[in-house]
Amino acid sequence: MYEPLQARGAHLTVFYTQNSINSSAFPLLALGWVTHKIMPAPGTKPKFYLTTPIYYTNGLPHIGHTYSTIVCDTIRRYKRMCGYDVVMTTGTDEHGVNVERSARAAGVPEADYVNRMASEWRKIWDDFGIQGDEFIRTTEPQHARTVQWLFKKCREAGYVYKGHYTGQYCVFDNAFVNDAKPGDPCPDCGRPTETITEENYFFKLSGFQERLLKFYGEHPDFIQPEARRNEILSFVQGGLRDLSITRTAIRWGIPVPDESPHVFYVWFDALTAYLSAVGGPDFDRRGYWPADLHLVGKEIIRFHAVYWPAFLMAAGIPVPKQIWAHGWLLMDSAKMSKSKGNVVRPRPIVNVMGMDALRYYLLRETVFGQDGNFSYDALVTRYNADLANGIGNLASRTLTMVEKYCGSQIPIRAESDVEASLRANAEAAIAAANTNYTQYNFSLALEAIWNLIARVDELITTQKPWTLADQKLQPQLNAVLYSAAEALRVATVLAYPVIPASTEKVWKLLGQTSPLREQRIDALKWGQLKPGTRIAKTEPVFPRIEKADAIERMEAMEQDASKPAAPPTPSLPTASAATASAGGAAAAPAPATGPVKIGIEDFMKVELRVGQVQTAERVAGADKLLKLTVDIGTEIRQIVAGIATVYEPDKLVGRKVVVVANLAPRKLRGVESNGMIVAASIEAENRPVLAGFLEDVPVGTRLK
Ligand code: MSP
Repeated sequence: MYEPLQARGAHLTVFYTQNSINSSAFPLLALGWVTHKIMPAPGTKPKFYLTTPIYYTNGLPHIGHTYSTIVCDTIRRYKRMCGYDVVMTTGTDEHGVNVERSARAAGVPEADYVNRMASEWRKIWDDFGIQGDEFIRTTEPQHARTVQWLFKKCREAGYVYKGHYTGQYCVFDNAFVNDAKPGDPCPDCGRPTETITEENYFFKLSGFQERLLKFYGEHPDFIQPEARRNEILSFVQGGLRDLSITRTAIRWGIPVPDESPHVFYVWFDALTAYLSAVGGPDFDRRGYWPADLHLVGKEIIRFHAVYWPAFLMAAGIPVPKQIWAHGWLLMDSAKMSKSKGNVVRPRPIVNVMGMDALRYYLLRETVFGQDGNFSYDALVTRYNADLANGIGNLASRTLTMVEKYCGSQIPIRAESDVEASLRANAEAAIAAANTNYTQYNFSLALEAIWNLIARVDELITTQKPWTLADQKLQPQLNAVLYSAAEALRVATVLAYPVIPASTEKVWKLLGQTSPLREQRIDALKWGQLKPGTRIAKTEPVFPRIEKADAIERMEAMEQDASKPAAPPTPSLPTASAATASAGGAAAAPAPATGPVKIGIEDFMKVELRVGQVQTAERVAGADKLLKLTVDIGTEIRQIVAGIATVYEPDKLVGRKVVVVANLAPRKLRGVESNGMIVAASIEAENRPVLAGFLEDVPVGTRLK
C-alpha cells in the first residue's frame, strides 16, 4: 500500500507535511495527481482514511444508508486490528434546493432545519455505535473555506470559466441531466426534470478525458467493482462535457467569493467535504489525505470517479486511492426510496434484533458490490441459524462444559489429533477471513469463520466430552475443551469487525481482559489461549428469537415510523436504542432510565373497551397470528393478534376480551389490524394470556 512515490505528471508541486506524531517535517511531493501518502515514520502507524457518502439531510437514514455506514465501520474496525491509524468520515450534505423546500414546508429557516436533521443523523449513528471519527457538515465554516479554496485553485490553474447553461435539471438529484429534452424524466429517479438557464461558472471537464483514462489505466483498482469500472470507462471514452459548478437560482449554498449571487453546485460542495474533514487546505498537516477509500452506492459513482478526481487534478491535489461502489438493498425488488414508500428504517430492527444482528445479516447475505434483497424473514432466519444456534450456542456449550468439567478454568493444552485438526481449520479460517476482509468480500470472510464454528460444533458432537467426563478421561477431555475454547477465541477475534458488541461479550466470558479491538487480527495465531484462565459465568449472548413475533414487532414499529412526522427535533435516546447499541440481541427492550410515570390524562388517551370475539382464523404463513372479528359495542372490528400458539381459533369465538380501540390501524403480515387485544405476556415462556373478567360485563364497556 505504501509504495515508493512515483512521478505521474508534468506539473510538480511541493508540499510540506508536518508529521503529527513525531513533529518532524517531511517533504511530500504531490505530483499533479499522485495517489500516494508518504511512508510512515518508523514506529508510527500507517494511516488509512475512509469515508461514507455525505448523506442528504432532507430525510433520515433507512437501511440503505445504514448499510454503507456499517460497511465503513466494519472496514475501520478491521484496519485498526491490522495496526492502522484509521480515520473514518461520515457527515451530512446540507445545501441545495431540496433543503430550501423542506425547510419551507416545515416552516423553519434552512439553518434550523439542517441543524435538527444533522443532529438526528449523528444521533442515529451514535446510538448504533457506527459514528466514525469525523462528522462533517457541509454548513460548517471550515468546509466553506475548503470549497472556496478548491475553486480558487481550479480557477488559478485555468480550469474555470464563466458561461451560460440551459438544460434539464433534476431537482431531487441536484444534477443537470445530460441529453434530456424538456419534459423528459430524470433517468436516475424518474421524477420530472425542469428546464433551467443560468449564468454559471464552468469547470473544464472536457479537458480531462485523456488524463482520466490514463489515470484509470495506471490504477486498475481505482474504481471497484469491475462492472462499475467498465461503466465509467465507457462513459469517459464517450467524451466529457464541461460541468457547471455554480448556481444562481439557489440561495442556500456556499457563496462563491465576490461573485454574488453565485453559490456552489452541491456536488462541488459535498465532494469537498471528504477533504475538509481531514484538514481542508492543510490536509498535509494531518496526513490522512489522499483518502484510501471512498465507499459509495452505485448511483453516485460518476460524481466520485469522474468529477472528483478531475477537480483534484485541476487543483494539483492528490487523488483518492479507491472508489468502491456497492449495490443497492432492494425492497420488493426496487431501490428503497421515500417517494416509493418502500423504505425500511434501521431503528425497529435494531430495537427488536440488536445492532449486531443487522450488521451480520447485511454483510453475510449480500455479496458486496451486488444488489441484495432485504427481508425481515431472512434477517430473523439468519439470526437464529448463525448467531443464536451458531456462535451463541458454541460459546454457551463450550463454556458451560469448561465450567462443569474443568472448574471454570481453561484446561491445559495437550497435543492431540483433535487439536491438530481444529488447529488446521482455525488457521485456514484466519487466512481466508483476512484475505476476504482485505478485499471487502465480507460474505466470504464470514463464511470462513462460520465454517470453523460448524467444525467445532461437529467435533464436540463426535467427541462427546460428557462421556469422556463420565469415563474420567481427563486428558482427552482437556484436549477437546481446550481446542474448542481456543477455536471460539479465534472465531471471536475474526468476527469482531462485523459483530463487535457481541464478540466483546464472548471475549469477556472467555476470561480475556485485554481489549478485543486491540487484538492483531492479521497476526492471529492458534494456541494463544492461556491454560488456567478463569472464565466468566456463562450467559446467553444471542437468545433465540421467535420469528413471527419479531417480524410483527418490527413491522408495527416501521409502520408507526412511516407516519408523517413533525419536523424532527433532537430527541432523548430511546430505551431500546440504548439496549441495542449496547450489543447483541435486543429481544426485550427495557426502559433505559427507569420507569416513566404518566399522568391520568395520558392513561385516558388509551381507549380500552370490552369486546366479544365473533370469528377467529389463522393467518396463512404466520404461526403466531390469528385474524379475529371483534364486536366492541359500536362496531365490529378486524383485529390481528399474536396468540395463535396458545389459543385455538374456535375456542375463542364468544369470548370476551379487552380491546385497545383507538390504536391506529396497521398491517401485520399484510393483514389489516384495527385495534389490539390485551394479554399478559409471560416473557420466559413466550406465552400470551388473554385479559378477561370474573364477572359478566356488557360488550363495549370502557375500562378506566
Ligand atoms: N449527498 C449525496 C452524496 C454526496 S457524497 C459527497 C447523496 N446522499 S444520499 O443521502 O442520497 O445517500 C446516498 C447513499 O446512501 C448511496 O450512495 C448509498 O451509499 C446509500 N444508499 C441509499 N439507498 C440505498 C439502498 N437502497 N441500498 C444501499 N445503499 C443505498 O447521494
